[in-house]
Amino acid sequence: MITEYLQFGIISNAVKKGILSVNVVNLRDFSTSKNGVGRIDEGIFGHGKGMLFRPEPIFEAINSIKRRYPGCRVVYLTPRGRKFDNKEARRLSEEDSLILLCARYEGIDTRIVEKAVDEEISIGDYVLTGGELAALAVMDSVTRMLDGSIKEDSKDDESFEYGLLEYDHYTEPPVFLGLSVPEELRSGNHSKITKLHFESSLKKTYNNRIDLLLNYLPVFKAGETADPLKKLRRINEQLRYFLLTIQNISEEWKHGRRN
Ligand code: 6GU
Repeated sequence: MITEYLQFGIISNAVKKGILSVNVVNLRDFSTSKNGVGRIDEGIFGHGKGMLFRPEPIFEAINSIKRRYPGCRVVYLTPRGRKFDNKEARRLSEEDSLILLCARYEGIDTRIVEKAVDEEISIGDYVLTGGELAALAVMDSVTRMLDGSIKEDSKDDESFEYGLLEYDHYTEPPVFLGLSVPEELRSGNHSKITKLHFESSLKKTYNNRIDLLLNYLPVFKAGETADPLKKLRRINEQLRYFLLTIQNISEEWKHGRRN
């Protein structure tokens, strides 16, 4: 599952460029089971529902990796973990090496979490059948944060970076299914384009992620100018525009037109 995903696009390029290197370790190789080759699962103490990974093979696997990568941070992927986001991705991208520990069934023995895991991460409020997809999601978003993996400026405009979702995009043709590319985007007028992008971000966030909008601390860009008065005027202009757009969206919302 993991190696297949690594063969495409930006991740594959990062591997080729030497920015990222991934070693996939099969926990079964650390089984000491006498009843069944490579067996690492076991029944659960208590009511006896479901299966769990035994602690010893995981402990051995982690130690064998840590011998090669001393100080390597151990991240356990679990729906019980702290919620993962772009900020977390940036933080993890600063580590030299990571162990992304994936389980199945009901997970792993708690003593592993206590003795060998540094942090638990969940990728959202839903339950997957295994941690691999979550590990790939983490690996993917962390790789984007590594220097040289993607163009630096393409990280800026991304959804979440300023607390709002990204604005709408258009390409050729100018008209498709009766819908036109907004005139502003074809005008070459950069202040008009910026305004449209901002409005589009606000609308999208209002419609799809009102939770983000409520937490949004406007991060207005004053630009390069050194003149403090000019800076203030620019921020003021953006703030007024922000309030106006929010008002417009609320009006549209009231009248049942959401887009
Ligand atoms: Cl990290 N693992 C599993 N199995 N399910 C999840 C998850 C992780 N994050 C959200 N759902």
